Amino acid sequence: MPGAVIVGTQWGDEGKGRFTDYLAKEASLCVRYQGGHNAGHTLVVDGEVFKLQLVPSGVLYPWVVPVIGNGVVVDPAVLLAELDMLESKGIDSRRIRVSGNAHLIMPYHHELDRLTERYLGKNKLGTTKRGIGPTYADKAMRVGLRIQDLLDPKIFREKLDLALREKNGMLTKVYNRLPMDAGEIAEQYLGYVDRLAPLIDDTVHLVHEALDVGQWVLFESAQATYLDLDHGTYPFVTSSNPVAGGVGAGAGVGPRAIERITGIVKAYVTRVGSGPFPTELFEGDEVGDLLVERGREFGTNTGRKRRAGWLDLVMLKHATRLNTCTELAITKLDVLSPLPELKVCVAYEDDSGARYDHVPYHQSVLHKVRPIYETLPGWQVDVERAERIEDLPAAAREYVRFIEQYTGVHVSFVSVGPARDQTVVLPRAA
Ligand code: IMP
Repeated sequence: MPGAVIVGTQWGDEGKGRFTDYLAKEASLCVRYQGGHNAGHTLVVDGEVFKLQLVPSGVLYPWVVPVIGNGVVVDPAVLLAELDMLESKGIDSRRIRVSGNAHLIMPYHHELDRLTERYLGKNKLGTTKRGIGPTYADKAMRVGLRIQDLLDPKIFREKLDLALREKNGMLTKVYNRLPMDAGEIAEQYLGYVDRLAPLIDDTVHLVHEALDVGQWVLFESAQATYLDLDHGTYPFVTSSNPVAGGVGAGAGVGPRAIERITGIVKAYVTRVGSGPFPTELFEGDEVGDLLVERGREFGTNTGRKRRAGWLDLVMLKHATRLNTCTELAITKLDVLSPLPELKVCVAYEDDSGARYDHVPYHQSVLHKVRPIYETLPGWQVDVERAERIEDLPAAAREYVRFIEQYTGVHVSFVSVGPARDQTVVLPRAA
């Protein structure tokens, strides 16, 4: 049963969309299994830029069925706007399937996301304010509304009334805001039904129908390993499970369905929002500024400037374990080209001089550790036109080899520019 997973190994924005797009051409289904429109995937095809938030990257291949799995949280207005955008670029969006079990992001989720962040003050998480956390919280509390509820206006209204009873109490009594009107929300959401209904499906069944006949199903994570609710730098994480194991619950398959797990690694590290980041290069650092500028490290949707730092192999190795990666794909190698030397973090140390070769489980330790770097030579020539591994300068090959050796996981791909064809494929040694 050939299932493949694409997962980010850092804090997101590794360039997963581009590799999903690259690998999707072999797949029959491309399935998102968690997250919502907090994600942003930028794809460049024939010079045209596509910015996707909810729809899996495989949508750009007409033979791929893009699936929004049950583990995703969906704001229907955002989904419909994305479908309009795709249609306006000549892409047929009627193939997209949306799980009836996916949860709906409601207007009060947006509002509560904004309010809780504001109330956290300097301790804020730096969420995308898209209502993601409150929607997953309601799912766990069993008071969420699901896509399938839209198909039954009476049920939808009953569930909404019930949910609003508590939410309006929170909004008015805790946060001193105006209550929300159930009638207005119902009218807005039920207004989406005509367009959404033909897309709603039993996506678990679709996935298994494809797996049963030996077709490739590509599962696409949003966010990444260190934003995982269980394995990331909690509480500075998202509210779902981007790790490869999340596919099980978020798409409805068991571990045996997965054969290939591609971990996406940016050649350096970025993070948006708050939380620990051992190799961070702070505002004003020349290298940090170069990474942000050359890497265009600003949020696809939010426009937020990302924090940037050197590659952290301690975290990467742990990520390859958390996801059981069968291969790695390195992105944005070209961004490093001007640098005369490159640092890679190979261990941490704390104030007492204790050394850590793995990610310390205790957050307070992780907050305070200092990176121990190894310095590798830079290449200082353009790599954008490299097509094969031999086209890369020796220092770039050494950088890739170092990553491979440290993690013990084969590097299959290296991207040297944003376009589809700027991907160097590295064959496995026989
Ligand atoms: P939320 O997912 O909006 O609740 O945000 C929680 C944390 O995850 C914040 O630090 C966000 O910046 C981060 N985050 C959420 N989605 C992405 C993403 O697609 N890329 C990078 N960071 C993200």
